[in-house]
Amino acid sequence: MRDASTVDKKLICADLDGTLIGDDDAMYKLLGIIDSQDFLLVFSTGRHLRSTLAFIDEKIIRKPDACICLVGTEVYFLQEGELTLDNGWSQIISQDWDREKIVRLLADIKELLWQDEEWQTRFKISYFLRENQDEVLKEIIHRLEKAKLKTIIIYSCGEFLDFLPLKSSKAGAIKYIIDKFNLKRQDVVVCGDSGNDLDMFTLGFKGIIVGNAQPELKNFNGENAYHAVAQYSAGIIEGLRHFDFI
Ligand code: GLC
Ligand code: MG
Repeated sequence: MRDASTVDKKLICADLDGTLIGDDDAMYKLLGIIDSQDFLLVFSTGRHLRSTLAFIDEKIIRKPDACICLVGTEVYFLQEGELTLDNGWSQIISQDWDREKIVRLLADIKELLWQDEEWQTRFKISYFLRENQDEVLKEIIHRLEKAKLKTIIIYSCGEFLDFLPLKSSKAGAIKYIIDKFNLKRQDVVVCGDSGNDLDMFTLGFKGIIVGNAQPELKNFNGENAYHAVAQYSAGIIEGLRHFDFI
């Protein structure tokens, strides 16, 4: 983990699929800029660590300084060259979380399709929801409230539905990382393309919404959110210029 020397650094936190990933040339250019400026780099993804590392190996890029996996339910810091799980974060998000009760409560909703087991973890329940979205989401919220079960509900890309512990999500995780790195809020930029990035844009950090973003993020109008015209990593570069980071 970085130490006090990170205090004056700038940090770029980028989602992977649909944000950093999508245009390889622009991605390599962006990563070159980040390294030449000595910015800290954080990935913030719905992927698990294995899949994130597979991407890093395939594209032959450097590991990020920290990594938020599984939609903010796992945080890793780069330590001696390895992305290492931060148990403190797991501890924090385990409060007020009853996974089995939520799964049972939703078991009979036929529109909810269970994602593969590799995407189900102690702190993440994930379905596909591809029809009757409005009605089903209303019913889910009603049931959860009635049962007094606390959870974050994240709907992305017209199909992914995640249930996460109340203290988790990409927003909670990036705040946690920024505190650990001891950074100033104005030195942080978050970048994303879809619903599971949305809460990162509500924290008041500078935010870049790439040009190819999904409607749920395209329609977001936060104070510090910049809507790039360019897509994927080229959109991030455009946004970094807008914020005078480069
Ligand atoms: C990623 C994860 C999936 C999740 C989705 C939206 O695709 O693999 O489990 O539902 O992100 O957060
Ligand atoms: Mg994405």
